[in-house]
Amino acid sequence: MTTAATSMQPMTPQPYLVREVVKETPDTFTLTLQPEEGAGISPANNSPNGNLFAPGQFSMLWVFGVGELPISISGDPGRHDRLTYTVRSVGKATHALVSQKSGAAVGVRGPYGAGWPVEVARGRDLIVVAGGIGLAPLRPVIYHALSHRADYQRLVVLYGARSPRDLLYRKELAAWARQRDTQVLITVDYGGLNWRHRVGVVTTLLKYARLRPAQSVAMLCGPEIMMRYVARDLETHGLSRNQIYLSMERNMKCAVGFCGHCQYGPHFICKDGPVFTYEQIGPLLNQYEL
Ligand SMILES: Cc1cc2nc3c(=O)[nH]c(=O)nc-3n(C[C@H](O)[C@H](O)[C@H](O)COP(=O)(O)OP(=O)(O)OC[C@H]3O[C@@H](n4cnc5c(N)ncnc54)[C@H](O)[C@@H]3O)c2cc1C
Ligand code: FES
Repeated sequence: MTTAATSMQPMTPQPYLVREVVKETPDTFTLTLQPEEGAGISPANNSPNGNLFAPGQFSMLWVFGVGELPISISGDPGRHDRLTYTVRSVGKATHALVSQKSGAAVGVRGPYGAGWPVEVARGRDLIVVAGGIGLAPLRPVIYHALSHRADYQRLVVLYGARSPRDLLYRKELAAWARQRDTQVLITVDYGGLNWRHRVGVVTTLLKYARLRPAQSVAMLCGPEIMMRYVARDLETHGLSRNQIYLSMERNMKCAVGFCGHCQYGPHFICKDGPVFTYEQIGPLLNQYEL
């Protein structure tokens, strides 16, 4: 099913077909794509086990007649027959993408970027902190950790959304919470009458988390302001800046380090990231016009 197309022609989209579109929240949808006959992607460069992508990598998705946009892969890295994306409709391209019908063709380039440090985290506790759609790029880490359970110690998932109806993957969150040595804590900004979990920003969950800072690796994804506060609080709890990883977003064009669109200080987000340590990226987080 796979070819060397990606490595030989990094700018050429491969044709994929939409197999399923699932509504997660009022504005967010999960799409499953499978390659058209004869097309496909190469295993990710940094994937030692032949997986199609590494957790945290992204694709460039081409919506014919509309444009191309970067979207993180949100599915199980152990699945070799499909690519899954969770997309929030915020503008023209994302709206066109989530409006695709089953059987429609979409162009796929990638996977691109440096993903989450699942190898560095081996043997340690994993702390996953997500805000809103930020849970999508982190879901492959959770899949990976649960399917390689013996390789990791405690798994702590902290997730914040605007309201209960904005929570992604609700059934999976409940299923993950039932796994051994796994803690899942959820909070929303605005609860409502039937809400039985916590209300408040995601940083408020840290005091309920079963943290063992010295043996942990933390992975953060969400709005930059949220990541800034979570990283700061994790540092206060005793994690070093090299134990904290963040995924960054910037406008992209080429996604392979040619055009400079995604430059962020000395880094190209597409090639050097999107995942960086807080040590690398922390000093830039307070600067808006980079
Ligand atoms: C590496 C990477 C991974 C990404 N992964 C995902 C993903 O998994 N799921 C997903 O839904 N989106 C993801 N995005 C963001 C997505 O690419 C943008 O939302 C999309 O390009 C917007 O295009 P548009 O034409 O729909 O909206 P536009 O018309 O370009 O923008 C509509 C509105 O959304 C705002 N906007 C645009 N891009 C962003 C952004 N990146 N963050 C916040 N606000 C934005 C604009 O300022 C504008 O107000 C990712 C971006 C990057 C760089
Ligand atoms: S998007 Fe072109 S250099 Fe990163």
